Amino acid sequence: MQILLNKILENCRRITEKGKVATYIPALGKADPNDLGICVADMNGDLFSAGDYEKKFTIQSISKTVTLMLAIMDNGIEYVFDKIGMEPTGDAFNSIIKLEIVSPSKPLNPMINAGAIAVTSMIKGKNSLEKFHRLLNFFRKISGNENLDINEEAYLSEKATGDRNRSMAYFMRDVGIFTGDVEDILDVYFRQCSIEVNCIDIAKIGLFLANDGRIPETGEIITSEKVSRIVKTFMVTCGMYNASGQFAINVGIPAKSGVGGGIMTSIPHKMGIGVYGPALDDKGNSIGGCEMLKKLSEELDFSIF
Ligand code: DON
Repeated sequence: MQILLNKILENCRRITEKGKVATYIPALGKADPNDLGICVADMNGDLFSAGDYEKKFTIQSISKTVTLMLAIMDNGIEYVFDKIGMEPTGDAFNSIIKLEIVSPSKPLNPMINAGAIAVTSMIKGKNSLEKFHRLLNFFRKISGNENLDINEEAYLSEKATGDRNRSMAYFMRDVGIFTGDVEDILDVYFRQCSIEVNCIDIAKIGLFLANDGRIPETGEIITSEKVSRIVKTFMVTCGMYNASGQFAINVGIPAKSGVGGGIMTSIPHKMGIGVYGPALDDKGNSIGGCEMLKKLSEELDFSIF
């Protein structure tokens, strides 16, 4: 495995030149577009890594999977999906268009920004800080990394510039998808997106999902098999946005990308894989990360389809 990862990483480095680092959140523009890293965490507790696997990056949209788990645990499946749909969009992750077209208004799924903000609004807590701390502790627990925290610069950068998310959130409150203080809800959302991770952290969250919501080392049950299955299914149908179909054909496993350059994947009952490469393709997915996963899937034949 180690030799294979080294080889794949070296073969994929060049493709990063074809991608672009996200700049719509200004702090993300500082990332090095040549960075590329991978970590595989398997059920035996072994970790295999290559390249820039220890480099920290912000989790961004990968966080949507974890928030969804906690929101379902807080409110139940029925409540969550009464407000948020289950269908892929074929639109960009930050598209607003369907919010007004679909009647009654309902974000199409919890992986696009609109749906994810609605999910975040459902996290229980007295105020936005308590909500975020519950969420952060949940991330720490399932990644096995007690030191996870936010990147303050990325958080402030998105909070200062996130007007597209702001406009969706105000629209959603107007049509009754949630109630409460929009800025407080967005504050929790911007913080969750700014949690700093590396490839090991997201590989371990992927492994937790692969292990049906139990901590692999201890067997501790954190969430039900059903909740973990719902999350993995959304990863397959919507996790790579309007490239989810292509990714399912090329790689064939549940995956969730973030504009920070990370991709978290989960191979049921086998492994979690975390990749990082901040140079993105035109759909907002890590270009080097997708290529590495495609090559690894071909070599290990791990497509679930
Ligand atoms: O809300 C946003 O736009 C970002 N915080 C997250 C978007 C994202 O990661 C999309 N992923 N590919």
